[in-house]
Amino acid sequence: MGRLAITGGDCVRKKPFPPWPQFDNRELDALEQVLRSGNWGGQPFPNTKAIEFGERFAAFQDARFGICVANGTAALEVALRAAGIEAGDEVVVPAYTWVATALAVVYLNAVPVFVDIDPDTYCMDPDALAAAITDRTKAVIPVHLAMSIADMDRIGQIAEQRGLTVIEDCAHMHGGRWRGTGVGSIGDLGCFSFQSTKVITSGEGGIILTSQAELAQRCQSLVNIGHKEPGYDSFDGRMLGWNYRITEFQAAILLAQLDRLDDQTRIREENATYLSQRLEEIGGVRPLVRDPRTTRLAYYRYLFRYDSEEFKGLPRERFVEALEAEGIPCWWSWYLPVYRSPLFALKASEYPETRRRYGEKYTPEGVSCPVTERAAYREAVCLPHPMLLGEKRDMDDIADAIIKIKTNVDELL
Ligand SMILES: Cc1ncc(COP(=O)(O)O)c(C=O)c1O
Repeated sequence: MGRLAITGGDCVRKKPFPPWPQFDNRELDALEQVLRSGNWGGQPFPNTKAIEFGERFAAFQDARFGICVANGTAALEVALRAAGIEAGDEVVVPAYTWVATALAVVYLNAVPVFVDIDPDTYCMDPDALAAAITDRTKAVIPVHLAMSIADMDRIGQIAEQRGLTVIEDCAHMHGGRWRGTGVGSIGDLGCFSFQSTKVITSGEGGIILTSQAELAQRCQSLVNIGHKEPGYDSFDGRMLGWNYRITEFQAAILLAQLDRLDDQTRIREENATYLSQRLEEIGGVRPLVRDPRTTRLAYYRYLFRYDSEEFKGLPRERFVEALEAEGIPCWWSWYLPVYRSPLFALKASEYPETRRRYGEKYTPEGVSCPVTERAAYREAVCLPHPMLLGEKRDMDDIADAIIKIKTNVDELL
């Protein structure tokens, strides 16, 4: 029997971390109100609560318009279509993200072009973006990943020089601010998800933000089967839309969740800052670097970079098992490089425009993203955000558990 919990010793932490999702009487009252009103659905679109939430969330992130949508994937798909992306257009996406960022592009028979990430922030590397642009490139989707905001200054400059539409994927960054401005309102369009694990959630849901009236009108029409409101929607022509409306139940829950977001963001930021200080002292576990231009960070996942050499060669997977055994929820199997994911089951016959660029399928040999590969297969360790909603001593438990593993690593070798 060793000292480490995984070898039979006592574990560092016995208490659970805060649960997720969280709710109180505000959600219960809001749900009851919708239930009793009989006005449950997404029609007339946008419906009362959906309008209220759209306006509030847009103002919260500094945008003029907020269009609620069924989920974050639909938000990206609608944003791309509203921006005029068509079959065969190329859209640059980071290789290290949830598959949905690239799937939304594929659904339009446009072509996702994967680029590598910055080793310190795990967000899109602007140099890689610049190098990937061809005369077919029409848009870029920077993802504000986990606990980092992409370099919107450089991405914005490159996009402007090359005439690209910028669609921010903010599924991880509700409340985040870059040099004082809310994410999702820096590019042309911003897309958020409210799926269950997100920092505000209605189980499923999403929103598109923009400050350009015509883009907002196009998004709204696309979400609502292509309806066009005479006298209101001023864009030319008609578009084939979807039913991507959200229900009043979802919007009501989101209004209640938004009331809590400022406080929760502050607590997560304080705890994460403290945790980063503690991890820096240990060696071999480096948190992602906070860009000084981020004025407020949402922490969807807390990510640190594990260096097995500092743990006498202990593989990351075994380190994660040992940390979990100490009572610290964590995982290494977060995101794969999208082009290697079994969920990215792209058939060139179904999406023929990809064939023109890539042949029959995306092959890892055809895409080179070494930083993404390192993050996915060797380096990244991920903690869920509710762990950051507790107290400083919870952060101490995390750091102490890692120190314990490092001190007793011989038990695992
Ligand atoms: C980076 C990113 N983009 C897009 C999405 C898609 O959101 P949804 O699951 O609501 O469709 C997610 C969801 O997890 C995500 O993490």
